[in-house]
Amino acid sequence: MKTVLITGATSGIGLALVNYYLQQSFTVVACGRNKEKLSLLFDGIANVNQLVFDVTCPESIHAAASEVTYCIDIMIFNAGDCEYIDNVMNFDGMAFERVINTNLVSQGHMLSALLTKLSRGSQLVFVSSIATTLPFPRSHAYGASKAGVDYLANTLRGDLAKFNIDVSLVHPGFIKTPLTDKNDFSMPFLLTSEEAAERIFNGVDRRKAYFSFPKRFTYTLKLMRLLPNVIWQKYVF
Ligand SMILES: NC(=O)c1ccc[n+]([C@@H]2O[C@H](COP(=O)([O-])OP(=O)(O)OC[C@H]3O[C@@H](n4cnc5c(N)ncnc54)[C@H](OP(=O)(O)O)[C@@H]3O)[C@@H](O)[C@H]2O)c1
Repeated sequence: MKTVLITGATSGIGLALVNYYLQQSFTVVACGRNKEKLSLLFDGIANVNQLVFDVTCPESIHAAASEVTYCIDIMIFNAGDCEYIDNVMNFDGMAFERVINTNLVSQGHMLSALLTKLSRGSQLVFVSSIATTLPFPRSHAYGASKAGVDYLANTLRGDLAKFNIDVSLVHPGFIKTPLTDKNDFSMPFLLTSEEAAERIFNGVDRRKAYFSFPKRFTYTLKLMRLLPNVIWQKYVF
């Protein structure tokens, strides 16, 4: 039986991934920062190990990693958060720091604590965002953090190849989760977290280096990116 570790397992895409991988007969290491939430969701469910750590706290990551005495076949770094910078002229540096810490700096600490738990032939998966295709309004912190994740994943792919570890970079479009429930704008081509989980499972199963969904949204944004800045900025901002 294969083992998959999923961060951000207590909500949205991460929770849907846990359920999808369980259906495919995986053992799941469900990671979250909230012990009670993890217990409520997963106590008594066969083949789920719970791992408690806050991705912004290196000590808690390393303490949790010491409990992992088995090999992980697939590690999915999915936990993340989004805060918008509403007033650019009164730029909220603390919000910027929080988002970069949660979405990007965390990845370095998780790699430091958990990478050696991956065996040869295993997989490392980064859930980034389609938002890195084009700059979006108010997304300075979120977009910058995910652009950092893209670079990290792409450079690790090269370095980890010699250890036989494959790296997948995932760019989801808009997915209906508690994270996007806060959005006050229209979200084109919105998918459910169950649809996202199925797409992520399939892409990872095919060991794709990069995949993005839904295709309609990906192609639209990539096409817009080819246009001169003044044109796409008029539509996006
Ligand atoms: N939803 C979308 O449209 C969309 C699109 C592209 C990419 N993504 C990415 O997909 C990932 C999952 O997002 P989602 O939409 O499923 O959001 P979500 O429903 O808000 O879930 C986020 C998960 O991350 C966990 N988390 C947040 N901060 C954490 C911390 N400091 N330590 C440990 N865990 C932490 C949350 O834990 P708690 O339950 O304790 O809060 C939760 O389990 C994120 O990386 C997000 O950027 C989402």
